[in-house]
Amino acid sequence: MYIPKIPVVDYAVGRSEQLLSETIRKIKDLNEDAQLKAFQADLSSVESIIKFKDSLRQWLLDSNLHCSVQILINNAGILATSPRVTAEGYDQMIGTNYVGAFVLTKLLLPLLENSPVSSKIVNVTSFTHRAVTNLQVDEGTVSGKKFLSSKHYPYAQVYEYSKRKRHILDELVQATLYL
Ligand SMILES: NC(=O)c1ccc[n+]([C@@H]2O[C@H](COP(=O)([O-])OP(=O)(O)OC[C@H]3O[C@@H](n4cnc5c(N)ncnc54)[C@H](OP(=O)(O)O)[C@@H]3O)[C@@H](O)[C@H]2O)c1
Repeated sequence: MYIPKIPVVDYAVGRSEQLLSETIRKIKDLNEDAQLKAFQADLSSVESIIKFKDSLRQWLLDSNLHCSVQILINNAGILATSPRVTAEGYDQMIGTNYVGAFVLTKLLLPLLENSPVSSKIVNVTSFTHRAVTNLQVDEGTVSGKKFLSSKHYPYAQVYEYSKRKRHILDELVQATLYL
């Protein structure tokens, strides 16, 4: 019977190829036996996250490794002090801090569920998620359009909101896994 190898590989996922190479080199300098693989992905782009998921799956298959992920750490996040909108039409902070983490988690769930050992998802949020107070969230807020022509971008509130949503992601995933 053929049993694929269970991967003990650390994945570095980031948007800059140069930073990824530097990170891999620094880890290798500390531990030359480390099994590492870098993938480029922009968390503010759903298209890029889908490409990453496809590349990861293909790489696992090509490497004869068990098709699973044991730990996902959603760390990437930004605090943008001026309004910007992603190519797919989200406020940049909401798109990166929440939508990106949500899509990545959703797309990797089958691989996490396929893990032969108990898998984990770590969502890096912020204590400020508790501070969400008077932000009126509507379509214009999520799309970021509301702030593009406005002189005031309530960046602290948008950041807190995006982090609150990431916190809710924990609850959503738990609910999905225990259905
Ligand atoms: N620093 C704080 O005081 C603090 C407090 C509470 C929570 N946090 C949270 O902790 C996490 C890490 O923050 P940090 O302070 O370490 O910030 P950081 O040094 O700016 O690191 C953020 C990381 O996210 C990556 N990133 C940003 N946008 C991305 C995108 N669109 N696609 C892929 N990667 C992207 C950055 O990649 P690049 O290197 O390519 O820019 C960087 O590696 C964040 O989620 C942040 O909200 C930070």
